Parts: sequence; C-alpha cells; structure tokens
Amino acid sequence: MSGAVVVTDDGAVRTIRLNRSEKKNALTLAMYAEMTTALREANQTDAIRCVMFAGSPGAFCAGNDISDFLGAALGGGLEPRAIDFMHELGGNQKPVVAAVAGVAVGIGTTMLFHCDHVVAADNATFSTPFLKLGLIPELASTLLAPMRMGHARAFSLLVMGRPLSAAEAKDAGIVNTVVDSAAVDAAALKAAQEISTLPPGALAAARRLMRSHGDDVMQRIDAEAKHYKELLQSDEARAAFQAFFARKR
Ligand code: COA
Repeated sequence: MSGAVVVTDDGAVRTIRLNRSEKKNALTLAMYAEMTTALREANQTDAIRCVMFAGSPGAFCAGNDISDFLGAALGGGLEPRAIDFMHELGGNQKPVVAAVAGVAVGIGTTMLFHCDHVVAADNATFSTPFLKLGLIPELASTLLAPMRMGHARAFSLLVMGRPLSAAEAKDAGIVNTVVDSAAVDAAALKAAQEISTLPPGALAAARRLMRSHGDDVMQRIDAEAKHYKELLQSDEARAAFQAFFARKR
C-alpha cells in the first residue's frame, strides 16, 4: 500500500480516497492498482452496497501522473494497470458516488461518467486536456460524454479541452448537486448512505438496466486504448509531457 489511496468502510459505504494532495492526486500506476483492488473487493462483498470516490479539499484528481505518461512514451507503451482500472470501473456492479472538490482533470473527469451520483464543491473544475497532450479521451468517454451532454458540449470538453465550472458541469448532467467545498464529502456520503439503504436486488436490477450499454463501454475502452497506446509514443505527446515538467523552470 502506497498510502496514496486510502480505503475505508463506513457501514455499507466503501470510500476510496485519493491521498496524494502534494501532486493534486495525480494517479500513479500503484494507485490504479489499489483502486482496482478496492472496487473488486467491494463487488465481491455483500455488506458493501455503495462505493464513494473522494479526493482532497483542493484536488479531486489531476489525472494520470504525467511522469508515468513520459515513461510510457519513452518505453513500454500503455500500462495494463490503468486499463485494468478502467475495465473494473466500467463493469463495476455496485453504485458509485463521487465527492469532487478542486481540480478534476483527465481521468479525474472521465471517471465521473461511470458514477451514479456526483456531488461537486463550488470550487470544482472539470477539464480534459487530452488533445493538448497529443492524446485522445479515454475510459469510454468518447461514448458516454456525448450520450450524457450532447455532441457539442462533449466536443468542447473532450476535444477542445475547454473546462467546466461546477455549475456548468451540473447543467451538463455530470454533477447532481453543487455544495460549499467544506460540505462536499458529507453530502456525498449522505447520498451514498441513502443509496445503500435501498433493497439490494431491486437496486442492482435497476442499475443494470440503466447501464445496458455495458458491452459497448468495454469495447470502447479497448478501442480508445489502442489509439492511446500509439499516440502516447508520438513525438508530440512526448514533447507535451516534457513541457509540463519544464514549465516552472
Ligand atoms: N502528473 C504529475 N504531476 C502532477 C500532475 C500530473 N498529472 N498534476 C500536478 N502535478 C504536480 C505538479 O508537477 C506539482 O509538483 P511539484 O510541486 O513537484 O512541482 C504539484 O503536482 C502541484 O501542481 P501545480 O501545477 O503546482 O498546481 P496548480 O494548482 O498550479 O495546478 C493543475 C494544478 C492540476 C491545474 C496542474 O498541475 C496541471 O495542469 N496538471 C496536469 C494535469 C494533466 O494534464 N493531467 C493529465 C490529463 S490527461
């Protein structure tokens, strides 16, 4: 355990908290693996009825760790640990709630399309600068974002990289409620607890029916990953990753 992901069970709610605030909760490969394990265990544990993702006050998640991107660009390509997480979240059987405060970048935003209920702090911002990094959107967001918010808004977010405020994300159907940043975790936990009191059989059936595009999601994750793998090793992506770390010098 790296300590960068903290998993706690509170009654029927499992919280997966990103705890790498000094790096704005950017996701390392170890963190992906820990989140995958936490989701898998939740799926296999009857007593867990709902999973909640949370971050730190100033950062939900700054996306994939760009050092790992650079490693992939210079070496082995896309890492299976990230793809395993995408498959696990995409096929997750328990309802998922998110408490988003501060920045939600890249996969920090695209993972929200797999959540069933999202509470955002009024300081939350949502952005996916994939194209600026020479990459394409992932985690089946090319499928789910247009379904959720329409092509025009999805294109603006995913392709043009224009950020959304919390209010805009609510308007786009990504976020359920916007609350004061000090209240975001409690509001999300309350929603998760409410979900976890619903009859589990009916809940599972309703959720399965509402997510009947599950096979398409898995196929889209893999199709995006194929492009992603090639693009990661492109000169433009490598230059963008290096520029990120050179920006403060
Ligand atoms: N990968 C690796 N390190 C990251 C990171 C990421 N995705 N996001 C932030 N960090 C690190 C920064 O390098 C910095 O480290 P340092 O203190 O050792 O220099 C630290 O986290 C704090 O980030 P900083 O940029 O100083 O904070 P900020 O408040 O000015 O900006 C962000 C926050 C998230 C807007 C900015 O860090 C950013 O744009 N990050 C990259 C996001 C991204 O492109 N992710 C990939 C999406 S596909």
